[in-house]
Amino acid sequence: MAQLFTPFTQRGITLKNRIVISPMCQYSAQDGLSNDWHLVHVGSRAVGGAGLLLLEATAVAPEGRITPDDLGIWHEEHLPGLRRMVEFLKSHGCVPGIQLAHAGRKASHASPWKGGHQLGPDAGGWSTVAPSALAFAPNETPPLALDEAGILRVTEAFRAAARRAVAAGFEVLEIHAAHGYLLHQFLSPLSNHRPDAYGGSFENRARLLLEVVAAIRTEMPLHLPLWVRVSATDWTEGGWTAEDTVRLALLLKENGVDLLDCSTGGNVATAPIPVGPGYQVPFAEQVRRCTGLATGAVGLITAAQQAEHILATGQADVILLGRESLRDPYFPLHAARELGVEVAWPDQYTRAKSRL
Ligand code: FNR
Repeated sequence: MAQLFTPFTQRGITLKNRIVISPMCQYSAQDGLSNDWHLVHVGSRAVGGAGLLLLEATAVAPEGRITPDDLGIWHEEHLPGLRRMVEFLKSHGCVPGIQLAHAGRKASHASPWKGGHQLGPDAGGWSTVAPSALAFAPNETPPLALDEAGILRVTEAFRAAARRAVAAGFEVLEIHAAHGYLLHQFLSPLSNHRPDAYGGSFENRARLLLEVVAAIRTEMPLHLPLWVRVSATDWTEGGWTAEDTVRLALLLKENGVDLLDCSTGGNVATAPIPVGPGYQVPFAEQVRRCTGLATGAVGLITAAQQAEHILATGQADVILLGRESLRDPYFPLHAARELGVEVAWPDQYTRAKSRL
């Protein structure tokens, strides 16, 4: 049996296979509210046979949105739209998951196809917050450094978002601590120059993430898994390293995190990233081997045999698919055929299953 199509159980939740749709911003919301685009987008991937779909980076606070077009979960009014997606995913055997996010200094930008530039308050943007008043790019207005009350507000925003996510029916929660967003900004010495208990040593830089984990865990029933996405390296001298990631993974494991989703980069605009097929998989492998924590592999995984090899060689527990699932929402159904595994197709599509 191909590993890719073996079930994966964590706590009380079972994925029917190891294919996870990676969180991908659609930049198509208004005031954080989801709409028909989001339902059709996630619904297509559920129909396509994924075991779990992680909904895009969903902002825990309005000022934590990357763009004005991000999804949000800072208010009860976001719940009906989220519930609609959850119910559709569940009805097609896809576990509904959500990524909870705060963009910190990378907030308040235009969506990619609107230019991607920083938006000032006069252009529909807002002031951003971060561990230190250091801009991401030289031409950008720097963020305001959070004071301790502000840090507490961030933790409480993640806590309230988790409570809402559980109320909406999500069964896997992922904390976004990667790609140069707020929690990553705290972790990395390149973006965190704080002189207080949240900066300086490794323990201090990891403090906010661990407080967020603790706050979220208190809002989650014990049968639901909690995942964290990190950037396993900043790819830059003096930045966050793979060794830091292993150390962090041990702490996360002790504190109720069930899987580390291993991405990289995003905190240094000019970092030289050696992009190529499966280039981030070694980080998932290292964390899994050194800590025993389950890992997710992501990044330029585009073929069934490649995904199968990663799992069969014990480098990760699940495969996260990003762009390949945008090219082919039916990747899981196609991969099953390629790997010779019998999987159910949606009843409505059964007549297309055989090519004869
Ligand atoms: C992304 N990515 C991303 N990552 C994340 O953690 N949260 C997010 O909301 C998004 N948004 C997003 C939107 C779009 C359109 C793309 C293409 C990517 C990164 C994504 O989840 C994944 O990690 C990378 O795309 C690498 O995997 P692939 O695409 O090579 O399979």
